[in-house]
Amino acid sequence: MLISNSSTVSSDEAIQINPRLRIEIFREQCPIAAGEDVINGLTQTPKTLPPKYFYDDHGSLLFEKICELPEYYVTRTETQILQNYASEIAHLTGPCELVELGSGSSTKTRILLDAYQELGHPLHYLPIDISGGILEQSAHSLLKEYPTLHIHGIVSTYETALKHLNPSPLPNRMIGFIGSTLGNLKPEDCHTFFAHVVEALQPGDYFLLGVDLHKSKSILEPAYDDSQGVTAAFNLNMLRHLNRLFSGSFDLSQFEHLAFYNEKEHQIEMHLKSLKNQTVELKTLNLTVEFQEGETIHTEISRKFQFEQIQAELKTLGLVSLKNWTDQNQWFGLMLCQLQDVNA
Ligand code: AVI
Repeated sequence: MLISNSSTVSSDEAIQINPRLRIEIFREQCPIAAGEDVINGLTQTPKTLPPKYFYDDHGSLLFEKICELPEYYVTRTETQILQNYASEIAHLTGPCELVELGSGSSTKTRILLDAYQELGHPLHYLPIDISGGILEQSAHSLLKEYPTLHIHGIVSTYETALKHLNPSPLPNRMIGFIGSTLGNLKPEDCHTFFAHVVEALQPGDYFLLGVDLHKSKSILEPAYDDSQGVTAAFNLNMLRHLNRLFSGSFDLSQFEHLAFYNEKEHQIEMHLKSLKNQTVELKTLNLTVEFQEGETIHTEISRKFQFEQIQAELKTLGLVSLKNWTDQNQWFGLMLCQLQDVNA
């Protein structure tokens, strides 16, 4: 049975698919259907749209293509760091339940599972993803590859899943947030997100975080404006997605992808620029939007960090840094933190 996002199930549901695979689904009031965030974003100045609208099926495929682009160093650098240090991570944590936020196809997770398996540790994996289809498909592949693995997947947003985690079946839990998605959160949302992570941990538990580090504009800008135009297609696809969701009239050929590094804020910014004065309608939202030629919609930030900055923020929440790893260019960082016992 494949769980799809279009399922009609409207309340929470738990399915024991086989003795080693259980999937829980939390269906929230779907904000996408309401589209309130689209109305708010497109009626403010400057105009904005939330990055979650990148990820319809086509957008997810385009993102997978981005990860393989020669200019997009992020995925292969983090993978290389994991390959080099997964065994050290497994030694440091000992047996623990691996929770992964935004698990997708769980490609990088396999590197960690291999390391824990090598040490003879029991394998318990808890993937969390908004897409039930991808989560279930990758869970079935993982069960075939790892005969002792137990999977308890949760289909929901990070926030809801973190609130509903059962106690870990192993002495400890490690929540992994790899892939640099932290960079797509605004600073204020980052802090709230860390607080939710801490609530899902017990003292002694671990948090493994992937962060993209400061680097020169000459590396960053091509990574978000590649020569094959895949990132441009990814950005523009948001308009196609909105057309489908809300009976919209965006003409993709009349918008252009823009990506630049804001050196002051240490963030890549992606925008869609209107190529002419135009009017766009989103019928089911009852919304008409006027664009001036050259006007932009801000679609994404991708923040770049320094270890010290994140460490200081995590420390305020009781998460203490155990070890950081990086690659030879120091482009990407992997941080292992542990929740302190405040009473110790
Ligand atoms: C998902 N996230 C980590 C990507 C990033 O690098 O910020 C999203 C992305 N946007 C354009 N390219 C990749």
